[in-house]
Amino acid sequence: MAHNSWPRVLFLYLLLLLHCRQHAATPNRRIIYKFTDCNAEQLQHLPKLAAVYELSAVTCNISTLPNAYFTRFTTLTALEVRESGLAKIGAYALNGLEQLQWLALPWNYITNVEPWSQAPLKALHTLDLEGNAVKMLSAESFVRYPNLHYLSLAHNMLERISGDAFTHLPHLKHLNLAHNRLGVIESLYFRGMQHLAHLSLQHNAIERVAADSFATNAHLRSLRLDVNKLRDLEFLRSNALTRLLHLNVSHNRIEAVEAFATGEWALMDLDLSTNRLVEVKADTFNGLAALMHLNLSANALHMLAASCLDKLINLETIDLSANNLTQLPSGLFDAPTQLQRVNLSRNALPTVDAELFAQLPYLRALDMSGNQLSSGAFIAHLSPLLPHSALTLDLSENHLTQLDADAMTALQVCGASVDLSANRWHCQWLIVELVRAPAHVHFGRNYSLASSWSAALLNVSGIDCYDAERQRSLVVLDAGRLWERRHGVGDVECTTFVDPVMPTPPPLVWPRVRVDRFDSRSIIIWMLIAIGLAFTGLRIARQLIDRREQTKRVKKLLELKTQELTRLTAKNVERLNERT
Ligand SMILES: *[C@@H]1O[C@H](CO)[C@@H](O)[C@H](O)[C@H]1NC(C)=O
Ligand SMILES: *[C@@H]1O[C@H](CO)[C@@H](O)[C@H](O)[C@H]1NC(C)=O
Ligand SMILES: *[C@@H]1O[C@H](CO)[C@@H](O)[C@H](O)[C@H]1NC(C)=O
Ligand SMILES: *[C@@H]1O[C@H](CO)[C@@H](O)[C@H](O)[C@H]1NC(C)=O
Ligand SMILES: *[C@@H]1O[C@H](CO)[C@@H](O)[C@H](O)[C@H]1NC(C)=O
Ligand SMILES: *[C@@H]1O[C@H](CO)[C@@H](O)[C@H](O)[C@H]1NC(C)=O
Ligand SMILES: *[C@@H]1O[C@H](CO)[C@@H](O)[C@H](O)[C@H]1NC(C)=O
Repeated sequence: MAHNSWPRVLFLYLLLLLHCRQHAATPNRRIIYKFTDCNAEQLQHLPKLAAVYELSAVTCNISTLPNAYFTRFTTLTALEVRESGLAKIGAYALNGLEQLQWLALPWNYITNVEPWSQAPLKALHTLDLEGNAVKMLSAESFVRYPNLHYLSLAHNMLERISGDAFTHLPHLKHLNLAHNRLGVIESLYFRGMQHLAHLSLQHNAIERVAADSFATNAHLRSLRLDVNKLRDLEFLRSNALTRLLHLNVSHNRIEAVEAFATGEWALMDLDLSTNRLVEVKADTFNGLAALMHLNLSANALHMLAASCLDKLINLETIDLSANNLTQLPSGLFDAPTQLQRVNLSRNALPTVDAELFAQLPYLRALDMSGNQLSSGAFIAHLSPLLPHSALTLDLSENHLTQLDADAMTALQVCGASVDLSANRWHCQWLIVELVRAPAHVHFGRNYSLASSWSAALLNVSGIDCYDAERQRSLVVLDAGRLWERRHGVGDVECTTFVDPVMPTPPPLVWPRVRVDRFDSRSIIIWMLIAIGLAFTGLRIARQLIDRREQTKRVKKLLELKTQELTRLTAKNVERLNERT
């Protein structure tokens, strides 16, 4: 017992030591109170109110903050009342909080933002009112918070903002108005906010942004306008935002972009995905030499001008997926040589120029899945500077029938992972390649089968190919794994030294394929049990060899032990004989 309690004593002592040291370091003790499920009464009857540094009440019952509620909390710097049903805040509720720096009242029922204090709260730099029911901001709303840096009114019901509401916040850097009901951005809203760096306006119903809305926001670095109802980006024409770095206008109704054709923009990220763009003209992105990430996914693009990316010499990512592209101009990727990720999936490309990607030595991910490609000629022309095993290539769901030897060699060398599944491979070519292809080239996809001997759906990896001679589609299933699982091969424990009997081959059972998964194609299932068995056989053989060796080793050990034992016994017998 005493032996056991030693560490505990030591631990307590250490704790005490630590405690004392903390006190020594901070003579004015900083008390932090964190409550959950409390009520308003409890907050008023805390010991040492004058030393409370942080106070947090989460999921409490505090519907009202009456006037002068916090007067005795003279050193409070951070106050949080979250999800506590707060609906009413007295006009002077925050009186006396001269040191308050951080005020968070999120997820309550506050309907108006008011001064809530007689004297300005000069220390306050963060105000979080997220998730309330504020409908309107007036000229008075922020008059007592002159030094705010961060303000969030996200997830409210804002419809209107008085033109001079934010003029009292000259130091504001972050303004979050996302998830509200704003329909228009008027030119006065953000007037004079010279330090504003991050503005979030996503998930509103914004249809129009006045032309000079950002005339005085030269420091704006990120602007989010995604998930709104914008039809154009004309508000960028004033060139006030040329120093913007991140712009997200995804999920709008933009049909044309002209603002970036002239001027010099600092933009690094431009998300134009899920809009209604139909074409990219030669000069559309001319001013975007600094751009690194461009997302044009999910538009209705059917035309790209050959030189439209020529000025984007810093581009690293381009997403052109889910468009309506039926051809790509040759030379499209000749200028943006820094490209690392190119996504062209889910278009309608029947072919691409063999030299299209030849100038991209940094290419690491190329997704061309879901097109109609019938030739993989471009693979052999990938940049010769691509490092070994660098490229993730997706060519699944195309119309490829076979790849030539050069392409296969290129894939073998520079591919890190290559998806070739769901194409129209010729069976003869496929079988040969299956044997040769390295492990990072995947031809297979997963099929679910129903069978007569198992109630569960069986998931089998399979490869489909087309037998041109007999004009039929085949699905080659690798049933080996399944069979192993069924017979529990693979997790046999090597505890006995009896030579295992070779397992009997499985009964041949033809699984029923659920026809609806293969539409109307006539399909014959070839269970390539041979392949499966060959692999399984190999594995079992290896196990057998392992086991034999182990048995041998154990036998040897046993022999040694027996010899040792006989020797010892002999010695003992000798000694005994000597004594007697
Ligand atoms: C919250 O407190 C008030 C009194 O301050 C009380 O009437 C009400 O029932 C309480 N609500 C809950 C949900 O406990
Ligand atoms: C842009 O906004 C969309 C929709 O809100 C979002 O899914 C996407 O991640 C954003 N893009 C960037 C680059 O942050
Ligand atoms: C481009 O935008 C789409 C849709 O918003 C998104 O799914 C995709 O992940 C984005 N692509 C990149 C590379 O960020
Ligand atoms: C794509 O192009 C085809 C033919 O030009 C057209 O029928 C189809 O509506 C277009 N799809 C979209 C999403 O624009
Ligand atoms: C390419 O885009 C498609 C569709 O938008 C997406 O499903 C896929 O994950 C993207 N590929 C890569 C490599 O990001
Ligand atoms: C097939 O299923 C296996 C495991 O069930 C999974 O590891 C593999 O990624 C799947 N392959 C495809 C192409 O979805
Ligand atoms: C096979 O896949 C289906 C869905 O793809 C899943 O519902 C089922 O549980 C899987 N069965 C097994 C045995 O993994």
